[in-house]
Amino acid sequence: VAAAEGEGRAAALTRYLVTGAGGQLGAELVRLLADRAADHIPLRHADLDITDAPRVADALRDLRPDVVINAAAYTAVDAAETDEPRALAVNAGGPAALAAACAAGGARLLHLSTDYVFAGTALQPYPEAASPAPNSAYGRTKAAGERAVLGSPARAWVVRTGWLYGASGGNFVKTMACLERTQATVSVVDDQHGSPTWAADLAAGLVELIEKDPPPGIYHATGGGATTWCGLARAVFEELGADPERVRPVGTAEAPRPAPRPAYSVLAADRWRAAGLAPLRAWRDALAAAFARDGTALRAG
Ligand SMILES: NC(=O)c1ccc[n+]([C@@H]2O[C@H](COP(=O)([O-])OP(=O)(O)OC[C@H]3O[C@@H](n4cnc5c(N)ncnc54)[C@H](OP(=O)(O)O)[C@@H]3O)[C@@H](O)[C@H]2O)c1
Repeated sequence: VAAAEGEGRAAALTRYLVTGAGGQLGAELVRLLADRAADHIPLRHADLDITDAPRVADALRDLRPDVVINAAAYTAVDAAETDEPRALAVNAGGPAALAAACAAGGARLLHLSTDYVFAGTALQPYPEAASPAPNSAYGRTKAAGERAVLGSPARAWVVRTGWLYGASGGNFVKTMACLERTQATVSVVDDQHGSPTWAADLAAGLVELIEKDPPPGIYHATGGGATTWCGLARAVFEELGADPERVRPVGTAEAPRPAPRPAYSVLAADRWRAAGLAPLRAWRDALAAAFARDGTALRAG
């Protein structure tokens, strides 16, 4: 009991700093930490540009967080193909600056990465130790960010997630809600497999990870199960009370995009489970919960 009380006290005293606080995940982290009355400092892009290393160092020295959650990123997957230097600055230079400042101040760092670091040629879920082999500029810059964080002396976790959506910002779920209103039928790729992840569930899992303080390194955390973009679109239509058959499956070749996507990017969360962390709920249940809580924002597109 004494140990549990001690842990509780330590958790209550933890000071969190969240970068990218205005993004999908950042907004959910801030909401959760505020709900828990945790000591937290939300920094949006306008408050702190993580590519400005001197400012990052100053901010961490002044604000003295115990843990930094880096939810800031360049996430425009297609735009990164023609803007890779900028994506690299944000997705690798930013985490490197944060890691250096965390190491200097003794803060822990939780950095987010992506299923798109993998080539997508696997036939079963990628374990944490699988070698990244990104096939897009975005994936290359995120893989570089992982290396920067894991190679630094900071005590750091890299949590890879995938197919993230939430009430803040643009995402696939909102796009489908918008198309449901405006188009009779929608064609969506049915040969790319992944795990949709509600940002609110991921935020809760990340805070649990920080509280449990497992060994540093790579962890995977996505919604449970897997589907295709077409499967997710049909589930969105179901949530909207629309006919899911209005979503037509097409192949990737019929819907070309500037950035190549992995055909299969399901992540195995063995290390997450081994650390005693609760698996995120099944993606379909999470989608229903997201519409129940945030239906107005998600429907608004
Ligand atoms: N979205 C997905 O499907 C997905 C999938 C797998 C992994 N992830 C990873 O999960 C994490 C969170 O993603 P998300 O979907 O929440 O991203 P998001 O909604 O795009 O939010 C990213 C935030 O970072 C901010 N930002 C961009 N450049 C910055 C800079 N130089 N300094 C400080 N802030 C900056 C953005 O602000 P502005 O908008 O003002 O630029 C935005 O508020 C990221 O690491 C991402 O790579 C995302």
